[in-house]
Amino acid sequence: MSRSLTIARPDDWHLHLRDGAMLEAVLPETARHFARAIVMPNLVPPVVSGADAAAYRDRILAALPEGMAFEPLMTLYLTEDTDPEDVAAAHASGLIKAVKLYPAGATTNSASGVSDFNNVRATLEKMAEIGLPLCVHGEVTDREIDIFDREAVFIDRVLDPIRRATPGLRVVMEHITTRNGADYVMANETDLGATITVQHLILDRNDMLVGGMRPHYYCLPILKRGEHRAALLAAATSGDTRFFLGTDSAPHPTHAKESECCSAGCFTAPNALSILAQTFEEAGALDKLQGFTSLHGPAFYRMPVNSDTITLRKSETATRFPAKIDAGDHTVTVFDPGFPVFWDVT
Ligand code: NCD
Ligand code: ZN
Ligand code: ZN
Repeated sequence: MSRSLTIARPDDWHLHLRDGAMLEAVLPETARHFARAIVMPNLVPPVVSGADAAAYRDRILAALPEGMAFEPLMTLYLTEDTDPEDVAAAHASGLIKAVKLYPAGATTNSASGVSDFNNVRATLEKMAEIGLPLCVHGEVTDREIDIFDREAVFIDRVLDPIRRATPGLRVVMEHITTRNGADYVMANETDLGATITVQHLILDRNDMLVGGMRPHYYCLPILKRGEHRAALLAAATSGDTRFFLGTDSAPHPTHAKESECCSAGCFTAPNALSILAQTFEEAGALDKLQGFTSLHGPAFYRMPVNSDTITLRKSETATRFPAKIDAGDHTVTVFDPGFPVFWDVT
């Protein structure tokens, strides 16, 4: 049976575009389907100032192929040296839409992140005053906290105290991976949203670890138990406007994934929407897909919904996605959900 669904064009509220040849390779994969994306600032070196963000924005627009439309929504990487006035100026000019908090050492390229939260107080207070959202990679980094518990512990030890100390601060919990994350969002009426990735809606840690270790499923925060995946799927398909799509599509060269010490990140830009359509359909919630991909994010970020649309179509034969795309001297392996996907964006 063929079936189709037309929805307002989606946005990606958490995306890694990288730089140079990698940026050129991956940008069209996002721009083909998404109108806008919150672009992560974890380059090497990171995007820390308004001037850095303006230069990165220019490089992204220069890499956009002729005839494609895409609006990069820029972010700044919060460090202990961030100047609140620079942040405020970059926000006032319309250049940046969020500031990103990486606990130092939590994930890919997070070495310049925050160790002592007292040193970013002034910036957080300024952000609360001007209504600029803080996007958070929510994991503690303490050696003694088990990697599967790092999100839940972060909520209790870091996020909740920061929010209590900074009334009015608008926070996006990025790529939540646990029931604890979803519950924390639902327990708070205002100023809090969460992005969810495709891989965390369809995979649990067994998919990554049973029968062999699958490096292309390794991302941070790491895949959790099945019960957490079920809680995330329930949140995403509930219609609750506090949950929206952030693919966290995070390209790494294939050799860096298939390595003795594998880099964290799944490259989902090419097939994220196809997989989501199938996942929502199987959950009996196809009518909630548009909210998750196209409406809730703009509402949180106080931006208009995209005026054009995309059409998703289901066919009887499985959709073929490229296994890899070329990126300069390297390839990037496209995320394989591990099951046939019958939906495609037409
Ligand atoms: C991201 C990356 O590769 O930049 N990796 C990941 O596993 N999610 C970083 C991040 O979003 O934490
Ligand atoms: Zn992250
Ligand atoms: Zn990310």
